[in-house]
Amino acid sequence: MTLTCWEKISLVALAAIGLRILIKASVLVWRKLMAPSFGFGVNLITQGRWAVVTGGTSGIGKAYAEQLARKGLDIVLISRSLTKLEEVAAEIKQRYSVKVRVVEADLTEGQTVYTKIAKATEELEIAVVVNNAGSSYDYPELFTKVSEDCVEKIVQLNVAAVTGVARVLLPKMFERRKGVLINISSSMAVMPSPYLSVYAASKAYVLKLSSDLATEAEPNGVTVQCVIPGPVATKMSKIKKATWMAPTAEKFVESSLKTIGIESCTTGYPPHCLLTGFVHGLRCVCEKGAVWLISKTMCNIRARALNRKTNVKDNAKDSLVTE
Ligand SMILES: NC(=O)c1ccc[n+]([C@@H]2O[C@H](COP(=O)([O-])OP(=O)(O)OC[C@H]3O[C@@H](n4cnc5c(N)ncnc54)[C@H](OP(=O)(O)O)[C@@H]3O)[C@@H](O)[C@H]2O)c1
Repeated sequence: MTLTCWEKISLVALAAIGLRILIKASVLVWRKLMAPSFGFGVNLITQGRWAVVTGGTSGIGKAYAEQLARKGLDIVLISRSLTKLEEVAAEIKQRYSVKVRVVEADLTEGQTVYTKIAKATEELEIAVVVNNAGSSYDYPELFTKVSEDCVEKIVQLNVAAVTGVARVLLPKMFERRKGVLINISSSMAVMPSPYLSVYAASKAYVLKLSSDLATEAEPNGVTVQCVIPGPVATKMSKIKKATWMAPTAEKFVESSLKTIGIESCTTGYPPHCLLTGFVHGLRCVCEKGAVWLISKTMCNIRARALNRKTNVKDNAKDSLVTE
């Protein structure tokens, strides 16, 4: 059978497309599943002695602190509450026999706090910095109804503090030509996020900062990774029962730590990759439909939260009357 010239061209084009898809799929499987499972990530203990974790007293931050201590790193915990800091520090010291320092700091307070952190870690050989502390809305809300306090806190903590902490800790890592900076963003940064607009925009900033910092840091021997988690069962997400899609912070971090040095931007946990992939696919098929679906979900969550709030208020009034 002889093929016409057009048939030959079509066959070559099809083969090229097929090959490209195959290569892309193989790279994806390697990066997302095989390389992390085979331990091809950075060996953190070779990067220095200490790990600094902001928001290290609860949720994802606490899980990072514990699992970095399990790897043998000494830990600096940063958060606002000294009581919580001391509790978590004692727990980590007792479990993993590592040194733990605490820095009581409200990261929304700006440069003075970043300087305090720089001083407290001055003589330490820092292997890992986890820029984790973050703030969100109590529940999805219309932009014009979000309180000024909430907006201010999100901008100060999710944008300014992530930048400020990186700014004071990276220079020494560049000097030593070693270290890992992990910035915790959110999958909201890469999805339509109506009714969480300020939070999502702040996390998009973290993603952009991390991607450009990663390029600047690489020739200086430092790895920068941005993590974009989906839902994780923590105090902030108010998810009480962990599921396959919303894991415990411990399960999430165990998976995420394996991706350091393999992925510069990662959901950290494979099911969250399916979630962002699903939304991305939906947007390719019908952008408006995807945005409508997410808006509807956010409005439902908002309605449930407002109902709960009203019920709590009514119950409080009732108990005052009976008193
Ligand atoms: N949970 C999720 O579903 C999810 C999803 C995507 C992204 N994320 C991101 O993951 C990060 C951690 O979230 P999480 O769910 O683990 O939150 P979390 O359980 O509420 O923990 C927040 C931590 O940050 C500290 N913190 C809060 N405000 C602070 C401030 N002004 N200064 C210093 N420390 C402060 C808290 O300690 P103190 O109260 O003692 O200060 C606590 O240790 C955040 O950046 C969040 O945006 C979470």
